Amino acid sequence: QATSISADRVPDMGKRQLMNLLLLGALSLPTVGMLIPYTYFFVPPGSGGAGGGTIAKDALGNDVIASEWVKTHGPGDRTLTQGLKGDPTYLVVENDKTLATYGINAVCTHLGCVVPWNAAEKKFICPCHGSQYNSQGKVVRGPAPLSLALAHVDIDDGKVVLVPWVETDFRTGEDPWWS
Ligand code: FES
Repeated sequence: QATSISADRVPDMGKRQLMNLLLLGALSLPTVGMLIPYTYFFVPPGSGGAGGGTIAKDALGNDVIASEWVKTHGPGDRTLTQGLKGDPTYLVVENDKTLATYGINAVCTHLGCVVPWNAAEKKFICPCHGSQYNSQGKVVRGPAPLSLALAHVDIDDGKVVLVPWVETDFRTGEDPWWS
């Protein structure tokens, strides 16, 4: 009796192990497949060439062409584009009609409202709680605790490219709080 039972069980065990193997295989294939998009997600395309840069987009979602931008935006102009991580970012036109080499992130450092440029006052004035920033985005009145973040403005193939700013903040002489 005992031998016939174990003889019955052996093929069962064999089947079960086979089933387990198939199940594992079926599970691990999608798992491996799912890892690939994550890997791509964390290594942004173009991180090699443009140094993690993003082409600035205008209000219509088109790439910003530097030469056209300075034709349609006069000296002193500060106009929003979509920049790094999709953040609203001001491009600055200098008085000599060139594009400034820095862009200003428009997200208020108090509670995150988008801060409009007030051309008459030559300041960014937050509509939410009244924080003020000078023409370069340096905080001049609270409650905002910090200046607006910066991004480098490069021109690549005629297009405006925003690149993360990791160096000293030229307005304060301090390390950037945002990187
Ligand atoms: Fe700008 Fe509060 S969010 S002042």
